Amino acid sequence: MPADPQDAPKPRVRRTHLSLFVRDPEASAKWYEDVLGMEVTARGPQWVFLSFGKKHHDIALIRAEDGAAAGGLGLQHYGLEVEGDLDEWRRLYGMLLAKGVPVVKTTDHKIGFGLYFTDPDGNRFEFFHETVTDDEEGKRVLGLYGAPSEPVEIEPLRG
Ligand SMILES: [Fe+2]
Repeated sequence: MPADPQDAPKPRVRRTHLSLFVRDPEASAKWYEDVLGMEVTARGPQWVFLSFGKKHHDIALIRAEDGAAAGGLGLQHYGLEVEGDLDEWRRLYGMLLAKGVPVVKTTDHKIGFGLYFTDPDGNRFEFFHETVTDDEEGKRVLGLYGAPSEPVEIEPLRG
């Protein structure tokens, strides 16, 4: 007899981390330190672990097999919800441009603004500036507008 789904354990996720295949973990780690302000917490011959400052690791970079290429399946982007006001987000935008990081797009999500960019292997990240900070209200607005993702032009702040 199938188990009652009510009894099935439900994961109670506290925090998350991300692990990525990259061509050159040490080279990519420098980019993660430089662009995302991360710190290396552990490394081995085939990997580097990095932290945003609190946790033992938030992102792990694992050496991919030679000739590996990113495909059409798998990770679409990893969103980093950043602290600070909109101007701080605009300064991050300016920082990406100053460092020559490819910026993909800026998007209005109604609950916040997304700034999308890619790492040296083309993995896409998002600096997410929340405008609706109440989680219940965020869920309501996201549902109401059907998870909106509209292009928006916001000027980067330099310096
Ligand atoms: Fe996102």
